[in-house]
Amino acid sequence: MSLPEIDLVVYPDECDAFGHLNQASFLSLFERARWEMLHRGPGMDVFTRAGAWPALRKTVIDYRAAAFPGDVLRFQQTLTHHGRTSFTMRQNARRVRDDTLIASAEFVFVCIDRDGRPVPVPPEFGEYMHARRETSGNVQRLMVHGVNLAVEVLGEGPAILFVHGYPLDRTMWRAQTEGLQGYRRLAPDLRGMGQSDAPDLGYSMNIYAADLAALLDALGVDEVILCGLSMGGYVAFEFLRRWRSRVRGLVLMDTRAEADSPDGRRARDAAAATARERGPHAIAEAMLPKMLGPATLNHQPDVVERVRGMMSSTPVAGIVGALTAMRDRPGSESLLPTLEGLPTLVMVGEHDSLTPPESARAMADAIPGARLSVISGAGHLPPVEQPGPVTDQLRAFLASVQ
Ligand code: MLT
Repeated sequence: MSLPEIDLVVYPDECDAFGHLNQASFLSLFERARWEMLHRGPGMDVFTRAGAWPALRKTVIDYRAAAFPGDVLRFQQTLTHHGRTSFTMRQNARRVRDDTLIASAEFVFVCIDRDGRPVPVPPEFGEYMHARRETSGNVQRLMVHGVNLAVEVLGEGPAILFVHGYPLDRTMWRAQTEGLQGYRRLAPDLRGMGQSDAPDLGYSMNIYAADLAALLDALGVDEVILCGLSMGGYVAFEFLRRWRSRVRGLVLMDTRAEADSPDGRRARDAAAATARERGPHAIAEAMLPKMLGPATLNHQPDVVERVRGMMSSTPVAGIVGALTAMRDRPGSESLLPTLEGLPTLVMVGEHDSLTPPESARAMADAIPGARLSVISGAGHLPPVEQPGPVTDQLRAFLASVQ
């Protein structure tokens, strides 16, 4: 069942001297459409029944065309973000006669109790708005910033958040999510990869990190031990810049703090052109020899196929988006010394040619108190190439994080 569309007539008293629907009246119509939608669904008292009141935190309206008395406007509403105590609604108003988009708006609400304290969004409202979690096995699908993201959630205990690299997906952490009992293991597919939606636009380290924070909100997780590999490490740096207080421990695997060089940036654009012209298979074939160490390439054909499969099933939009996000990411060198006091493990494959052990050592040296672990026999993807040693090292590190 889809959400009802609400038709409202524009009246003369809502218009200005020129006969245009007045901007203040737009707010009333958007609000009327929201109440009407609730009236036709769980009831206008869905919030009061739960002791929660949706306080408006932010409004953004894009006025696109004029509307006049007698026009019938059709309001469509979707929930683009469902957090623990906040939610965001997008509403479009179209003129029924010619389907012209008259205005689109985004409203951010925080649910509060009678004393003004934030309280959870009533589940009945979330379910009605289709923000309900779709679960299959351990994988949940959650709507975040208008994009449906897949996240694997396993176990109970302190939370560890695994962030995969490019152009991969959450299944690269399979050995670790299965092996680290005693922890709540969270492994999302970043937007554009794995089973998450792949919008055409809207990729940056900032939005990947914001997606993760919103996923944690939706799952009710306050703090995590953050573990990012390669591009996942770039996302981790961004997450730390904005949500340092939510990070209890940090694992940086096969990643680097520096931004792309001018040549590196040009190479990102060339790779994006290859992805557009020849598809993900061409990207996979070009990257495989750099992703895996010689021992893996020569002696672990199943691992080679698994990684090839992950890369070649990444949507072009996700590949191009990630390349753009990596190309434009800032350097994080100045962040490293500020991580003093945060338990940190830097890990790298012995034969990683993309982010070699020397740069991992330099990164570990720049983070006060960080430890370095070099994984023998691995290239750029130790969790897949040498899953046993990586899981053991992680277990030991996690035990040391208080
Ligand atoms: C990755 O594995 O995420 C990429 O190799 C990162 C990069 O290209 O910088």
